[in-house]
Amino acid sequence: MSKEIVVSGIRSTGFLHLGNYFGAMQNYVKMQDDYTCYFFVADYHALTTHPDPKFLRENVYRVVAENVACGLDPDKVALYAQSDLPEIPELYLMLNMMAYKGELEKVPTFKDKVRTQPDNVNAGLLTYPVLMAADIIIHKAVKVPVGKDQEQHVEMARNFVNRFNNRYGEMFPEPYPFNYSNELVKVPSLDGTGKMSKSEHGNATLYLADEDDLIRKKVMKAKTDGGPTEHNSEMPDYIKNIFQLMSLVSTADVTDTYRKAYNDCTIRYGDMKKQLAEDMVKFIGPIREKATDLQNNPEQIRKILKEGAEKARVSASATIAEARKLIGINYY
Ligand code: TRP
Repeated sequence: MSKEIVVSGIRSTGFLHLGNYFGAMQNYVKMQDDYTCYFFVADYHALTTHPDPKFLRENVYRVVAENVACGLDPDKVALYAQSDLPEIPELYLMLNMMAYKGELEKVPTFKDKVRTQPDNVNAGLLTYPVLMAADIIIHKAVKVPVGKDQEQHVEMARNFVNRFNNRYGEMFPEPYPFNYSNELVKVPSLDGTGKMSKSEHGNATLYLADEDDLIRKKVMKAKTDGGPTEHNSEMPDYIKNIFQLMSLVSTADVTDTYRKAYNDCTIRYGDMKKQLAEDMVKFIGPIREKATDLQNNPEQIRKILKEGAEKARVSASATIAEARKLIGINYY
């Protein structure tokens, strides 16, 4: 039986953090054995915010290194740069004829950008979901591991697929968002508010590139209080968050011990954070070291990207040939 096809794009802006690990990379790593996977660095998408050309390669290399360090195996998946597949912009152009200005203007992620970068509301931003649809259907993918914020984009991809199929003939399957667990794993930030994210709170987010001492420092700064005074009392959110983080990186025994201590009011948050800090270091440290080693070996990264692009172009060029033919671009 042929395996189902999976596509996901990884933004090349910013450093990857613990939220990305549990929200995305862990899913990718699990999927690589069960599906035919195409994972790519979305460097064209990154251009919508006009990044400095000086840093583009560095960012792309880092994202590749970090993903491989987390367990993504370039021999099992096609790991490539979006810009290495000219078939993607070609399909994007075709799909643009089936995407309407009105629907694109209504997309919440676009409206956010209009608010946050009013001086640069370019057409690339407006058609971001069209490029994303091209990324997905260039391999005829059916499963797209993405976070909640990207589900609407996948829904738009389904709309474009249906319009294409209705106009030119059944060619593309409908893609759907995919996650192993129904509830996405929550990775709360260290300051007691929201979840870990690339923006603003550098100190509340643990990055996969953070050095051991920085990890310790950030964890020790997490908000706590004097401790519970009544047995089995309700936990404030910022304490729940610390337990949640602990459940991700510490053993179940360790987490249970602290939970009991909380319930009988003997908990010492200082000790708990020290434990969490050490378990975090044990978790992030090896990933960081592997990623650093790879980044110090750019030849290896180039090889991964080149081989990934070669694999991905096999399916991309077949798709484009088929689409051209259906559209009628078939002259010779
Ligand atoms: N838009 C996605 C994000 O911001 C990245 C992305 C680009 C993507 N193309 C994709 C994800 C195709 C899944 C499939 O995270």
